Formats: sequence, structure tokens, C-alpha cells
Amino acid sequence: MISYETIEATAAFIKEKTKGFEPETGIILGTGLGGLVHEIQAEHVLPYDTIPNFPVSTVEGHSGKLIFGILSGKKVVAMQGRFHFYEGYDMQQVVFPVRVMKFIGIKRLFVSNASGGVNPNFEIGDLMIIDDHINLFPSNPLIGPNDKRFGPRFPDMSEAYDKSMIALCKQIAGELGISTQQGIYAGLSGPTFETPAEYKFIRVLGADTVGMSTVPEVIAARHMNIPVFGISVITDLGVPGKIIEVTHEEVQKVALVAEKKMTGLMKEMIARL
Ligand code: HPA
Repeated sequence: MISYETIEATAAFIKEKTKGFEPETGIILGTGLGGLVHEIQAEHVLPYDTIPNFPVSTVEGHSGKLIFGILSGKKVVAMQGRFHFYEGYDMQQVVFPVRVMKFIGIKRLFVSNASGGVNPNFEIGDLMIIDDHINLFPSNPLIGPNDKRFGPRFPDMSEAYDKSMIALCKQIAGELGISTQQGIYAGLSGPTFETPAEYKFIRVLGADTVGMSTVPEVIAARHMNIPVFGISVITDLGVPGKIIEVTHEEVQKVALVAEKKMTGLMKEMIARL
């Protein structure tokens, strides 16, 4: 269990380093979708390995960073590099940055991810606004003693993804001529991609896309009553008859192409929020 005091101490360190810079929006970007970070006029950059208590990246040369700066005229903090459960981090570590971002003042959280589409109407490269999720991870970041200062023991999840931000995104997508899908993201541990039988199982459960992230972070954000907006980029299809071999490289390649649309939407949303 990572204590309230640990999060508080980490946030205090960051506030001092960033001279009290108070971001309004926290941003976590998915595989191949990191380009938005380069559009931030950075004011403070803190590598994870310089922040006390922050999970340390196990992959050499891959230490992530927290980037504080201005995007669309607004103060934001973005994570360059997220922590995945499949890397061996426990759930507490996966959601640690979300808790810290809350303590440094974020009012909302933007998340994105690359995913496999299981809805037969979806195409590779589509953007899906996430309007709900299914937690298929073998765990939940809130398992363990609950510190009420974070949030309730049994948090409500009836509106995990903020309806007003979904409406705003759809309005902006219409104005910019960007087509979007909307649906349910199933999050599971990975790191294997799914077998055809598993894709079918996920579709039968009611999901539209499947991926290996996002759900833990969103649960932690909702526990602390942070409104969440999420977008999923469909990088491959888990639809009978359309299933082909998936590789991480292909996922990255497709995400990069779809990224411009996603970045455009998020930037305009931030400008208007
Ligand atoms: N399954 C799980 N995670 C993914 C996929 C997928 O098909 N594509 C991108 N991330």
C-alpha cells in the first residue's frame, strides 16, 4: 500500500521543483501516441528517476518524464511514459502518478491508448471515444486498506468517463471533420495479444476495443473524483475474418498515423475547457 503521506511528500517535492506550477489537466498518452507531448511549451521537466518514490523504469534508457507546461494556452502536466501492469509494476505503482497529479492540482485527466477493435464496424486507424470500460485485469488498484482521504471504500463508477467532455469532443470532431467512434474499452493484463477465441469472448462481454492499460488509472482517478476523458486508437482488429498477426511495431505504426487526429481533438478540447 502506498500511503497518503508518501503521495503527499512526492507532490510537495514536485511543487517545489516546479515553483508551484499548478496544472489543470493531466495527460497520459498511449503507445505511439506521445506526439502531443512535443506540442507542450515545457516549463519544467522532471525525469521519473529524480522524483522521490516514483516507480523506476526497468527498461534501460526508458526513464519517463513528467512534463509541465502550456498547451492550447492552458497549464498541463503530461506523463512521457506510463507504467503498465504487464511490465511487473503492481497496481499501486501503475496508478501512483495519477494520485500524485491529483495532489498537484489537476482538475481532469486525459488518457489515450492503442487497442484492438472487436466491434465489427470498426476499421484500423479509427478513433474511439471511450464511454465506459470493463476491468478484465486480474486485480484492481483499490484492493487493500482504503484511506478515506483519497476517496470512498466503494467508489461509484456509473460515469467513469465524463459525459460533458465526451459531448465536447464530439462537437469539436464535427467542427474539424474528424470522424470518431464511441464505445467500451476492455482492459486486461497482456502482454500477449489475444487469441481469436479471446477476442470473441471480449466482444461477447460487450466491449468494442481491448487493450493493456487505462483501466487502472481511470479507477484511481475516479476514486479521487477526477473527471476523465479517454480516447482509444484502433491499431488492429480482433474481428472474425479480419484477424491477422499483430506486432508491437505495427501497433506503433498505425498509432502514429492516427495520432494527428487525436492530438488535434485533445488540443482543441483543452483550449475550450
Ligand atoms: N489487444 C490488446 N492490446 C492491444 C491490442 C490488441 O489487439 N492492440 C493494441 N493494444
